[in-house]
Amino acid sequence: MARFPDGFVWGTATAAHQVEGGNWNNDWWAWEHTPGAPCTEPSGDACDHYHRYPDDIRLLAALGFNAYRFSLEWSRIEPEDGEFSSATLDHYRRMCATCREHGLEPIVTFHHFTTPRWVAARGGWTASETADLFVRYCERVTARLGDVIGRACTFNEPNVVATFGHLWGLFPPGKRDADLRRRANDVFIDAHKRSVQVVQGGPGTVPVGLTLAMQDMQAVAGGHAVRDAERALMEDVYLEAARGDDFIGVQTYTRFRYGPHGMLPPEPGARTTQMGYEFWPEALEATIRRAWEMTRQVPILVTENGIGTLVDAERVEYVERALRGVLACLRDEIDVRGYVYWSLLDNFEWTFGYGPKFGLVEVDRTTQVRQGKPSAAWLGRIARANALDDDRDA
Ligand code: GCO
Repeated sequence: MARFPDGFVWGTATAAHQVEGGNWNNDWWAWEHTPGAPCTEPSGDACDHYHRYPDDIRLLAALGFNAYRFSLEWSRIEPEDGEFSSATLDHYRRMCATCREHGLEPIVTFHHFTTPRWVAARGGWTASETADLFVRYCERVTARLGDVIGRACTFNEPNVVATFGHLWGLFPPGKRDADLRRRANDVFIDAHKRSVQVVQGGPGTVPVGLTLAMQDMQAVAGGHAVRDAERALMEDVYLEAARGDDFIGVQTYTRFRYGPHGMLPPEPGARTTQMGYEFWPEALEATIRRAWEMTRQVPILVTENGIGTLVDAERVEYVERALRGVLACLRDEIDVRGYVYWSLLDNFEWTFGYGPKFGLVEVDRTTQVRQGKPSAAWLGRIARANALDDDRDA
């Protein structure tokens, strides 16, 4: 038995737009319906989690977890400039309360990829004013929820929004412009720093951090300069900005390899996942070590790690290998506070639609009926034992 530290956080994550359904008032919904956008299908009802969260939270607790990471939908809370919805804030307050009733810590993300349409129309994340708007939104949320939130993430993967949305044209606003990507990085960092202070100002004493998409970015022969240049804008600016925060959320799925001319595809014959990623659970250990070093030892929370696969046994194999990496980091006295699996439910995987299956729990897309997979029971058992048991069938 390899034990984890007392109080270790064991959770699963979701994001509002990927599970709630009917989030028509944000830039992603608009993007899903934009002709020519690289979206497979619209999000629609998603998992109807906006209404079904009590059952989903109950299920998570029954499986053995002690935390639930979910996000707030800004476009529901502030549907137009300065018009805040008390009913929506009450909804999220009830979600936090339901978590607590079931012994789960609510880990709340304030922004997970989606931005209200009215904010996007005013320039979105390349307009410096958006940082002001975000800080005002955080003030209102904190006033209403600060005493019930367990931990707060300001942004989920701002590096992905900046790069996919402004350099690669894959996410809204669909731009391909290196300067816009840099500007978005700056606006996100400004908004993050200011909102940390707002949330820390209370009510409540909520640890705050941001979460970052990190991959094990490896250089192969002659690829160091290219890798380092990409990593500087994708990760380093954010890791430096996170110094002094209460925690840093590490999110990782795979490794990327770089040669002298850029990123390389997985080697022929390499095992890959539904996302086309190389099956590489060792990315977790590598990225935890790097986040620890680059932030100068900010406590680490693994806020996402997982695999999109139709073969559930592969999920167990992936997570087990990833957790062995966490244990190696803990042995080296890296302060890892918890592990949050992406995701609780099979859900809307952005441009990929509902194809990739990341969930511990399957969702019938017609009836919304949930069905736990064997990996859900397996990981729940590890959470309850707070230890990795070698006997998978115990
Ligand atoms: C992300 C997001 C999630 C994804 C997950 C699987 O980090 O990209 O937080 O929304 O669904 O990472 O790709």
